[in-house]
Amino acid sequence: MFSNSLIVAALAATGSATRLYVSSYDGNITSLDLGAGNSLSITSKSTDCGYSPSWLTMDSMNGILYCMDEGNASPANSPLGSVNVLKTDETGILKSMGKTDTIVGPVSAATYGGGYVRGLAVAHYGGHSVSWWMANSDGSLAPRGNFTYSGPNGTNVERQTAPFEHQAVLDPTAKFIIVPDLGSDLVRVFSFDENSLDLKENMNMTVPAGSGPRHAAFRKVNDKTFMYLVAELANTVTSYEVTYPSAGKIAFSKITSMNTFGGKQIPKTAGAGEIAVTPDLRFLIVSNRNDASFMIENYDPKNSTLEASDSLATYELKDDGSFSFLQLSPAGGLMPRHFSINQAGDRIAVGLQKSSRVVILERDVSTGKLGVAAADVPVSGEVTCVVWDESVPLPAGY
Ligand SMILES: *[C@@H]1O[C@H](CO)[C@@H](O)[C@H](O)[C@H]1NC(C)=O
Ligand SMILES: *[C@@H]1O[C@H](CO)[C@@H](O)[C@H](O)[C@H]1NC(C)=O
Ligand SMILES: *[C@@H]1O[C@H](CO)[C@@H](O)[C@H](O)[C@H]1NC(C)=O
Ligand SMILES: *[C@@H]1O[C@H](CO)[C@@H](O)[C@H](O)[C@H]1NC(C)=O
Ligand SMILES: *[C@@H]1O[C@H](CO)[C@@H](O)[C@H](O)[C@H]1NC(C)=O
Repeated sequence: MFSNSLIVAALAATGSATRLYVSSYDGNITSLDLGAGNSLSITSKSTDCGYSPSWLTMDSMNGILYCMDEGNASPANSPLGSVNVLKTDETGILKSMGKTDTIVGPVSAATYGGGYVRGLAVAHYGGHSVSWWMANSDGSLAPRGNFTYSGPNGTNVERQTAPFEHQAVLDPTAKFIIVPDLGSDLVRVFSFDENSLDLKENMNMTVPAGSGPRHAAFRKVNDKTFMYLVAELANTVTSYEVTYPSAGKIAFSKITSMNTFGGKQIPKTAGAGEIAVTPDLRFLIVSNRNDASFMIENYDPKNSTLEASDSLATYELKDDGSFSFLQLSPAGGLMPRHFSINQAGDRIAVGLQKSSRVVILERDVSTGKLGVAAADVPVSGEVTCVVWDESVPLPAGY
């Protein structure tokens, strides 16, 4: 039986190392430890998430890592993806608790309906779907249903050839699941039955034609709720005020929009990636991919040639939901597909898909500005996701 006191004991013994998990398209989930003096090292590797791990959802409370296998790299070109349940422990070695085939293309997942039995909502990019699952406390998953879409298509004829569900994210009331659809220029919103946890279509929010909404982040301050939406094709971030007009209803009203380069010209090849609000709710960070805005020092100390780096954009958030541009800074390498902020807000782990590397950037919590890489480690394959596991005590008896 898993015991969280072991983690606490192990971390105390090793000088408060912090664990991170990294997924890459080469079939590996890599466990990293960030220790004293910013030492970053690989602790363990697991191949228990199929051929193309694309996304990790960390449930620190229950010591579970959900891993989405996009299913786009299987030798037989299998049209299936998989949802995988991995048990974490203090050693960093992940134990497979269950693997279930699913509609192809899972790229994001969110747990909902907390309790012994949890729902898992999964966004399928390549499968044009949203599926949902019951996650039992023994780690098993039961498929419950899916919504699969055949339209509408957005106006970008190259990228919007079908609906592409890109993320599943829970709103702050934990009653709605928000799914940006990059192909349809929609944010699809679902509610769910509190008992069966079955998803219901709730509403669709239309976004500007051709913008390609990708990911969203929420922020609740002074009883007001805001959503920040990043659009990959338009390279914009847009804020919305979120209101709940009556039970079971959600509404969005647009506040402001800005490009992900602080109003400067958007490089032609750029495609915005991840978005996150900082833990103090004062700043917003967005990753830009394929913009090569910076040249940085080589990670090989013997090599004096500078390397190109993509960027992260930081915005300062106002109480009324508007925001202002603060900083464009180096992401630490190429294709920052994903990044995660630690609970203290002073470190950002960046997953660099094209550089095959994870970089830990320092962040000044008072100014909100990002600094240089404090630590880095090469990780095999194209890195798709990196999450912190800052474990909190488990409920008694779990
Ligand atoms: C995992 O990573 C190792 C390198 O650490 C690599 O040799 C291997 O091909 C990767 N993929 C799988 C599925 O093992
Ligand atoms: C998706 O849902 C449809 C019904 O809405 C069902 O027929 C189909 O089997 C489901 N697909 C999977 C892979 O669960
Ligand atoms: C979307 O675009 C694809 C590719 O052009 C096409 O096959 C499909 O019929 C379109 N779907 C709709 C609903 O227009
Ligand atoms: C959202 O749009 C889809 C078509 O893409 C439609 O099937 C669905 O009924 C709409 N949902 C609501 C709640 O209107
Ligand atoms: C030095 O770094 C540059 C830029 O990353 C790279 O193109 C070059 O191959 C490296 N040279 C050596 C000897 O590793």
